[in-house]
Amino acid sequence: MATKIRFLPTPIIVLILTIFLNSSLTQSGPTPTYNVLGFGAKSDGRSDCTKSFLSAWAAACASVQPSTIYVPPGRYLIGAVEFSGIACKSSGITLRIDGTLVAPSDYNVLGRINTWIKFERTNGLSILGGTIDGQGAGLWACKNTHKHCPRGTQSLGVYNSNNVLVNGLTSLNSQFFHIIIDGCNNIRLIGMTISAPAESPNTDGIHVQSSSGVTIMNSHIATGDDCISLGPGCSNVWAESINCGPGHGISIGSLGSSVQEPGVQNVTVRTVTFTGTLNGLRIKTWAKPSNGFVRGVLFQHATMVNVQNPIIIDQNYCAKGTGRCSGQASGVRISDVTYQDIHGTSATQVAVDFDCSKKYPCSGITLQDVHLSYQDQPATASCVNAGGTSAGLIDPRSCL
Ligand SMILES: *[C@@H]1O[C@H](CO)[C@@H](O)[C@H](O)[C@H]1NC(C)=O
Repeated sequence: MATKIRFLPTPIIVLILTIFLNSSLTQSGPTPTYNVLGFGAKSDGRSDCTKSFLSAWAAACASVQPSTIYVPPGRYLIGAVEFSGIACKSSGITLRIDGTLVAPSDYNVLGRINTWIKFERTNGLSILGGTIDGQGAGLWACKNTHKHCPRGTQSLGVYNSNNVLVNGLTSLNSQFFHIIIDGCNNIRLIGMTISAPAESPNTDGIHVQSSSGVTIMNSHIATGDDCISLGPGCSNVWAESINCGPGHGISIGSLGSSVQEPGVQNVTVRTVTFTGTLNGLRIKTWAKPSNGFVRGVLFQHATMVNVQNPIIIDQNYCAKGTGRCSGQASGVRISDVTYQDIHGTSATQVAVDFDCSKKYPCSGITLQDVHLSYQDQPATASCVNAGGTSAGLIDPRSCL
C-alpha cells in the first residue's frame, strides 16, 4: 500500500487525506454530527446538562455545512435553554433525539420563565424523535389547590423561524402549554404525541399564533386544555389525522381580546377524532371591540365520541375578573366557515351551538352532512346571529 501511495500524484493524496479527516469528524451520514455526550452531558437525569446542550448547539451553529446534534438514549436534565439561529453559519441544523429531556421538577426553577426549550430565528431546523418531560405535576397541584402559583413555563417554543420540521416528538406533562409556534413560516409538526392528564390546568397541546403555513399531522394529543389552539395572525394552517382527548378540543381563539388584532384565515382541520372532550370544533372570541376576523375555515371529516360541545362558535366569551366586557359585542367578524361530514355523539343535548356577535353576525356558515346524536335521542342546534346554508343530511336540523 505504502509503495503505491508514494507514486500517487499529490492532488490525489490530498483528496484521500481530506476524505479521511472529514469522515473522522462525523459519526454517520454526510453531515457533521455533534453528540451532546462529547460536550459533557450526562444521561443520568440528575446532572445539569444545560451548558452541554448549549455548547453542542454553538458547535452545530458554527458549522458551515448542515449539521446534526445527537442526543443518545437516556435522561438529560436541562434548565431553560435558548437555541438561537441568529449567528448560525449552518443552513440547517438537525436535532436527533433518542433520549428524554427532563425539566427540573421544582416549578420554582422555571415557573416564571416563558419557555423552557426555546428556538429563536432558526431556518431549516429539524427536530427528529425524542421525548421532552415538563414535570408539571407539582405546579398543577399548586394551581388546583388555589395557592399563589407561577404561570408555569411552556415546554417547547419555536419563534420567528422558517422551514421547521418536528417529526416524532413526544411531549409529556408540560407545566403550561406543551408546544408554541409564534411568528413562523412553513412549519411542519408530524407524528407528535402530547400527553398530560385531563385535570392538568393550561396544558394546551399545540398553540399557534402569528404564523403562516403550519401543518400538523398524524398526532395524538391528550391534555387538560385545548389540543390545538390557533391565536391571532394564523393563516394557511392545515391539521389532519389528529386524535384529541381528553382535552378541550380544537379551537380557533380566543380571539378579539385586543382592539387591534390580525385575523385568522384559510384553516383546514380534517379527519379528527375527539374522545370525551369539552369541545370539538370551536371558534371563540371575546365579547369586546376588535378589528379581528376569522374567514375561510373548513372543518371536514370529524368523529365526535361523547363530546360536550361538538360544534360551537362562542362570541360571548368574557372571563371573570379580567375586565368588564359584559353587554358588549364581539368585534371579530366570522365568515365562510364550513362543517362537512361531522358525525358521532354529543354529551349534551345542544350539539351545534352558534352564538355569534350581535354587532357582526356570523355569515357564510355551511353545514353539510352533519349527524350528531345525544344519548340515542335527537340532539338540537342553536343559532344566535348566525347566517348560512345547509346541505345533505343534517341532524340535528339546521337552525341557520
Ligand atoms: C391555504 O392554505 C393551504 C395550506 O394549508 C395552502 O396550500 C393554500 O395555498 C392556501 N390558500 C391560499 C388561497 O392561500
